[in-house]
Amino acid sequence: MAVFANSVKLMLAAGLLLAGTAVVAYSADSGEEMYTKLCSGCHSASPAFKGKPVDGLLAGIDRVKNMPNASGAAARMQQTVKTLSPEQTKSIATYINGLK
Ligand code: HEC
Repeated sequence: MAVFANSVKLMLAAGLLLAGTAVVAYSADSGEEMYTKLCSGCHSASPAFKGKPVDGLLAGIDRVKNMPNASGAAARMQQTVKTLSPEQTKSIATYINGLK
């Protein structure tokens, strides 16, 4: 019985550890980190559209994403934003909105 109780405790501890890892992995993908990694190369750390409302930023990103026959840098931005989930795109837009 004691052995059983101990292994339940162990499984609980392992579960908590896993949950902790998931939280860390998520926060490593913050809007700031994604912006720095994926966007700042073209738009700089201080983009022309910093501080804009989140909705306007999302509309701008969508406009580029859906541009037909994009070429050059716009086509490369399309490749970049295509890989992002709506949640990721929104957290990047929220980060840009907070830039002064
Ligand atoms: C390879 C270069 C490149 C990368 C990487 C890139 N962009 Fe862009 N971005 C552009 C270009 C070029 C335009 C202008 C497209 C056009 O209107 O012809 C643009 C336009 C925009 C606009 C619209 C601005 C407006 O006035 O409507 C937003 C917002 C934007 N980018 C955000 C982002 C975000 C966020 C990322 C990262 C996820 C990103 N971009 C990655 C090149 C890039």
